[in-house]
Amino acid sequence: MKTSKCLNPTIFVIFGGTGDLNLRKLAPAIYNLNSDGFMSKEYAIIGTARKKLTDDEFRTTLMGGINSFSRAGKVKKDQWEEFAKNVYYSSSDVSAPETFTDLKASIEKLKKAFGPKAQVIYYLAVAPNLFPLIAECLQKYDLVGTEEDCRVVIEKPFGHDLESAKELNKLLAGIFSEKQIYRIDHYLGKETVQNIMAFRFANSFLEPLWNRNHIEHVQISVTEQLGVGDRGGYYDGSGALRDMIQNHILQLLCLIGMETPINFDADEIRNKKVDVLKAMRPFSPEDIRLSTVRGQYSKGWVEGKEVPGYRTEKDVNPQSNTETFAAAKFFVDNWRWQGIPFYVRTGKRLFQTSSLITIQFKDVPHQIFPAGVAEHWQQNRLIISIQPEMSIRLQVQAKRPGLDMVLNPVDMVFDYKGTYTAQAPEAYETLLLDVMTADQTQFMRADQVESAWELVMPIVNSWESKTSLSFPNYPADSWGPEDAEALIARDGFHWFTLPLKNKD
Ligand code: BG6
Repeated sequence: MKTSKCLNPTIFVIFGGTGDLNLRKLAPAIYNLNSDGFMSKEYAIIGTARKKLTDDEFRTTLMGGINSFSRAGKVKKDQWEEFAKNVYYSSSDVSAPETFTDLKASIEKLKKAFGPKAQVIYYLAVAPNLFPLIAECLQKYDLVGTEEDCRVVIEKPFGHDLESAKELNKLLAGIFSEKQIYRIDHYLGKETVQNIMAFRFANSFLEPLWNRNHIEHVQISVTEQLGVGDRGGYYDGSGALRDMIQNHILQLLCLIGMETPINFDADEIRNKKVDVLKAMRPFSPEDIRLSTVRGQYSKGWVEGKEVPGYRTEKDVNPQSNTETFAAAKFFVDNWRWQGIPFYVRTGKRLFQTSSLITIQFKDVPHQIFPAGVAEHWQQNRLIISIQPEMSIRLQVQAKRPGLDMVLNPVDMVFDYKGTYTAQAPEAYETLLLDVMTADQTQFMRADQVESAWELVMPIVNSWESKTSLSFPNYPADSWGPEDAEALIARDGFHWFTLPLKNKD
């Protein structure tokens, strides 16, 4: 996050080299970092996976990925030729010793050519059940270097529950030091998410208001129009709570809830985030009944096309009890936030794709305007729109121009599009550059992951042990189950949305 150019020659070893993540995200990110001059001139990418491919076939596969998914569009001939020279492929079976002995030989050859500053980054873009085996083999075949020259990146899901997350942390801790482990949460690399820290801590007017005395409630809403698509196999064993709340949404909540760090050090910032997770009120069975809602989508129509219900998606159990929607009311039990609800919701096949954080401030303490002056009275709101619109808006009451005193709400807007011309980097560009420059600020530390699991486990266990009799309980293209509206309406509020361009 504090990144500048990476000066050290870098060797990326990508396990799962032919997978979707590499094609859609990693390869385009490394390609763009290189084209934009953020990489050392000496670098290599070794992709490895089961498929039998030559170096050239792998290069062509990556080019296809970059052409289809890079924010910068199709590759440019010169840049591509320079990049492709540094790309290698090694077909592998992670249970075969040769995979690792061959890999070691390739890495050593490259290191020799790159000199003593060369560093190796292992990226585990594979199914989570392979994390332990690969990590153990890296150790067994002597592929783990020092804190200075060797790092490992682990994709989510980090564990399936608290116990498995602890087990994985323990296993990794026996192989790498915590400083070498980069647990990725791609939300933390998003430009607008990184800006939350800047907005909160680089401006003086907010801090006096940022507490229970002035804020009435907070909402974090991450809604998606898409269904599970071809990820049914993974998703059916996961669900919205594990897939989105345990990681991305709780991380957003930490950024809103954290105390002011004393400096910008990775551990200082992560300490402050862990404090939020530790202060969050544990859920009792009664809280789960009253303050959480789960949902599952049924079939419906999206943009004129009929879409299947969750239970008939590919690789999904036709009687599935997995939630595709989750909402909850959290509390952070500390001086700053005591009694202030944090409502969160997320789901698939919803009406809009949008990620919004809304801070609703308390109403004015005394109304001086006569009844009827305000056409529409609304408390102040700060809305941080993470995507698709990238903006921060402050909603205030203003006088409408005219001879009469008429008040209505208006938005003061900071909109990325209107303010900056440069294109924002993709989250994976930011995060991969952080890994190369050894900055762990935007990565999850072992205790962060475990605290987040600890918080959600009572809900996970309760939902898994009680089959929902109401599933499916919301149609595709809706805002989710009615109970989610009731959850927030009971406290006198409603879910806030922005009129977005992709819908009316
Ligand atoms: C992933 C989840 O971590 O985040 C997906 O596994 C979800 O289910 C995705 O769709 C959302 O990410 P983004 O960046 O598209 O908001």
